[in-house]
Amino acid sequence: MYSHVSGTGMYLPERALTNNELAKIVNTSDEWIRTRTGIEVRHIAAENEATSHLAEKAAYSALEASGLGPKDIDMVVVGTCTPDLILPNVACLLQERMGMTGIAFSVEAACSGFIYALTIADQFIRLGQAKCALVVGAETMSRLLDWGDRETCVLFGDGAGAVILEAAENPGILFSDLGADGKHRDLLCADAGVSSLKVGETAKLHMKGNEVFKVAVRTLEAMVDKVLLENGLEQGQIDWFVPHQANVRIIEATAKRLGLPMERVILTIKEHGNTSAASIPMALDTAVRDGRIKRGDLLLMEAFGAGFTWGSCLLRY
Ligand code: ACO
Repeated sequence: MYSHVSGTGMYLPERALTNNELAKIVNTSDEWIRTRTGIEVRHIAAENEATSHLAEKAAYSALEASGLGPKDIDMVVVGTCTPDLILPNVACLLQERMGMTGIAFSVEAACSGFIYALTIADQFIRLGQAKCALVVGAETMSRLLDWGDRETCVLFGDGAGAVILEAAENPGILFSDLGADGKHRDLLCADAGVSSLKVGETAKLHMKGNEVFKVAVRTLEAMVDKVLLENGLEQGQIDWFVPHQANVRIIEATAKRLGLPMERVILTIKEHGNTSAASIPMALDTAVRDGRIKRGDLLLMEAFGAGFTWGSCLLRY
């Protein structure tokens, strides 16, 4: 048994925050943000919108696209590093609100959270332990930002993306590869938690941007080489590259390594910013709905994030 994506969905909060608006809060400029990152606008969740609310909207949209309802779902996996609560996990909150049953848990792998979640769901389906999974990447990164730190607050946004992953005779997901290396933990972290007794302190995200940049490019290039080699693919043979949207310069470097022109790369960073685990399913849904990605196309999704964690997934859509 294999798994395939039968529907996609996304949700972007209404409030758009432009670079020019940010330049009134911190010492930055539209020109700096655009040229260094590719971002023009990001969206910010309303005060009464938690991560599970964004996830719920993306989930309903994916269910509608697949022609299924909540009762058909027997597994919910949510990639997020900005959960509503310490417990229950966001997947259980979704289950309760949408009337779903079965397995439900969240995966904490920062920007790689969606690829981790998708890979786990694929394995459950291959083993026959689930038939129809709702896989979500959802984040309220704005809640983790220090709005006085221009090196991080200009980069991130909120949103959610979802896919329905169903058991199928033919693959869908052809190959996935996950990795992590904890030794770089201090380059990108939000230093608060429960067992470190820092609960109650306000968690804020810190990043040594240009050091992260270098490791990200190196790791993503190695990952791309491995995907091509292990699947007998030549450069240029992937139809669509759907990368995590952290920085357009990182994406360009990886696309070059794949031998793909930028016309075959799905770029949403300009309108979404970096939405961490939500960025890949949001980019996927954008390109499915605007008709670029069609049934039968070969897609490569890849991500890199805090931890460091990384992952790739080769998918016949
Ligand atoms: N506006 C204006 N100037 C700024 C800003 C800003 N918002 N931020 C930094 N600068 C300044 C710096 O202070 C520095 O000034 P100096 O030269 O006087 O010291 C200068 O701009 C250059 O700073 P760098 O950090 O070297 O800029 P860089 O070109 O590396 O771009 C960026 C920074 C965009 C953060 C980039 O390094 C990057 O994208 N890094 C990778 C991010 C990533 O992939 N993260 C992983 C996923 S996220 C997750 O897992 C949650």
